[in-house]
Formats: sequence, structure tokens, C-alpha cells
Amino acid sequence: MGDILNRFQEQTEVKAFVGDRKLKVGIIGTGWIAEAHAVEYMRMPDVEIVAAADLVPGKAEAFCERLGISNVRFYPSHKEMIDQEQLDAVSICTYNCQHAAPAIYALEHGVNVLLEKPFTVTLEEAVQVMKAEKKSGKILTIGFQPRMSANMQMIRKIVESGELGKVYYLQAGGGRRRGIPTPYGTSFIEKETGGIGAVGDIGSYSLDMLLGAVGYPKPLTVSGYTSNYFGTDPDYYADHPEYAKVFGVDDFSAAFIRLEGGIVLDFRISWAMNMDTCGDALILGTKGGLKIPSTECWNGEFDRPLTVFKQVSGQPVQYEIPLIKYPEDFKGFFYEKLRSFVQAIFTNGKAPVPTSEIIYNQAIIDGIVKSAELGREVQIEIPEI
Ligand SMILES: NC(=O)c1ccc[n+]([C@@H]2O[C@H](COP(=O)([O-])OP(=O)(O)OC[C@H]3O[C@@H](n4cnc5c(N)ncnc54)[C@H](O)[C@@H]3O)[C@@H](O)[C@H]2O)c1
Repeated sequence: MGDILNRFQEQTEVKAFVGDRKLKVGIIGTGWIAEAHAVEYMRMPDVEIVAAADLVPGKAEAFCERLGISNVRFYPSHKEMIDQEQLDAVSICTYNCQHAAPAIYALEHGVNVLLEKPFTVTLEEAVQVMKAEKKSGKILTIGFQPRMSANMQMIRKIVESGELGKVYYLQAGGGRRRGIPTPYGTSFIEKETGGIGAVGDIGSYSLDMLLGAVGYPKPLTVSGYTSNYFGTDPDYYADHPEYAKVFGVDDFSAAFIRLEGGIVLDFRISWAMNMDTCGDALILGTKGGLKIPSTECWNGEFDRPLTVFKQVSGQPVQYEIPLIKYPEDFKGFFYEKLRSFVQAIFTNGKAPVPTSEIIYNQAIIDGIVKSAELGREVQIEIPEI
């Protein structure tokens, strides 16, 4: 276990930027999640936030003033900022429908990109972003902070160790009982800004956890379902019944997905439902099964250990994987997410959460939305990039 933690610490070492210059970062979109980006960058002595952009006049200025970020230039959108600044990197913290355009623009201008999750809204957009990434040779990483969790990483390690044999079935669990995200307005729930609902917001984390565990096999077909009974009900929102009128995405989705390598994924996710949880996540293999306790996997943690189920000498056996504790100076998953991006730039390294994997995550989300609209199974076809 110590070995895992030591390796984890090695990755977080601070390295001086080549040429003695700090990494120049711009923040695109200064809403809710941008604050976490700014706060973590400010903890890094070799990074400086030099610019911030937001479509809403005065929002970026107020954001920087509130967080005590000085010597920053402000812009009305990603375009002006990228045109006028000499940036090393941007954090794209815009709502989902504004993920693709700033990412493509930044990459086309030679800027490294940390793009918040989900990758995009549609598969077509994700393919366009990847084309720009390929042409640019720059780093593009997708903002899944649970990737930095040693306990989450343990899931993949158990599968890779061969302890479960050949994996053939994945089952997603978790989900929220009442958790449509509207703390700062309606950008998650309007079609024009969020584009997709629970399936993209928290479904993308659940997919990343399970697909990541088995090495991200290519999805082949999807039969998907989406609904929006809660989001469109004025009684759902105690203080803002008017939100029901603008709700234009899904609040629940379920799907049956065939993956390459003879694996099936039984998926469900919820922003709101009349149930406490959709259950534990399961990974079934020929030699063993793994139970991942129902979790808010977007936080990167479990409150109970993983359990492995096996037959030993004909007897059913189960054992728990002890939860890994973090050292006292551990700076948190969000810090590590940003730091791994910064380190990749410093070291000419690879994207910590590569699009070569997340394109499959996006293809499934896209497949669920399309299949639900059509009312039948769809084939997943990913164009050449
Ligand atoms: N990783 C996490 O834990 C986490 C948590 C919350 C949200 N997110 C993701 O972060 C993204 C943003 O979510 P949020 O809740 O902060 O949204 P938000 O609506 O609070 O903020 C988005 C901001 O982007 C601005 N914007 C949109 N397009 C722009 C453009 N082209 N140029 C400049 N500014 C632009 C908007 O005006 C808005 O102020 C979403 O995709 C969401 O899924 C991730």
C-alpha cells in the first residue's frame, strides 16, 4: 500500500518551469467550477493566472476580485483572450455547449487545454476537438478528478492483476435521489447551455470509473433511455418553480451497451429518482467479481471498501480491499487534476486523462441520447481522426 502512496507523491513534485518562467494560464468561463481551478492554480508557485474571460460582462472581473487574483487581463470571450494573450494553457470551465468551440480555438492557437468534463455534448463535437488536438500536438486533458484517487485507481489495478479473470459484465450504480444541479442558476439544465443532463454530468464519471477499469474498450452498440419527470415538475424546486419551464435535458438515464471484447455494460444514472441509490457498481469476471460500494464516484471516494468475491477450493470466499488513506500533506484530487496537467506541460508528457479514452465515454453518452430519441438500439460509429 505504501508503494502506491509513494508513487502517488512522486507525481505531485513541483518542477521549475523551463527557462525560469512561470506557466501562463487563462481561465475561460468564470462560473462555479472555475473557482476550484483558480484556487488550485494559486497554490502552485510555478503557475500564474494572467487572464480570465466570461461572456457575462463584469463576471470575470468580480471573480478575480473575490478570489484576490491580481494583475489579470479580462476578456469578453475565449476568442479575444486567446488572440491577445501569449498563453501556455487554458482551463475551460464553460458550460457543456461551450466546450468544443473554445477547446478547438485554443488548440488551433497552440495552447494546451484542460477541458472540464464531460468532454463535449455530442460525439461529432468530440471528434472535431480531437482533430484540432492531433494537428496542434498540444496537450488536451479532460477534467475527471476521480482519476487522481488512489482508491479509484485500485479498481483498475485489481482488474489488471487478473484477479477477476476475464471481465464480461459491468454494472453502474449510485445516482442521486434529489440532486439536480441548480445552485448557481440554470446552465446545467437548459438545452442551450447544458446540452445533456445527468447522463453527461455525473454519468460521464460513472462511465469513466467502469470503462477505465477494463482499459476503455470500444463501444459497439447502445440501447438507451432517458427521462425528465423531475426536472420538468415545478414542485421539484422549492424556491424556483420557474426552473421547470427551462428544463431541457435528461434527469435519469439507463442503457445497455455492448463493448468490444465481449463485455456488456448495464448503465443507469440519476439526478433525481424515488430511490436512495441505483445500487453498488459491479464488475463480473470468470475468476472473481468486484463490488464497488454505491458511491458519488464524481468525488473520487468510497465510504466503504471494495469487495472481491471468488470461489476457493469450491467454497465461496469474499475479502475487502482496505481503503487507502492519504498522507497529511495530500492536496486533494482537484489540485492533483490540475497539477498533473501542469506537469505534463512542463515535462512534454502525455495528457493525464487522454481523449483517446474519453472519446469512447462520449460516444456512449451520444449513443444513449440518440437511441432514446429513436426508441431503438444504435450502432456506434466513430469517424477516423
Ligand atoms: N469537475 C467537477 O467537479 C465539476 C463540477 C462542476 C461543474 N463542472 C463542469 O464545469 C463546466 C462549467 O460548469 P459551471 O457549473 O461552472 O457552469 P457556470 O454556468 O457556473 O459557468 C460557466 C461560465 O462560462 C461562461 N462562458 C460560456 N461560454 C463562454 C465562452 N465562450 N467564453 C467565455 N466564457 C464563457 C458563462 O458565461 C458562465 O459564466 C460544466 O461543463 C460542468 O460539467 C465540473
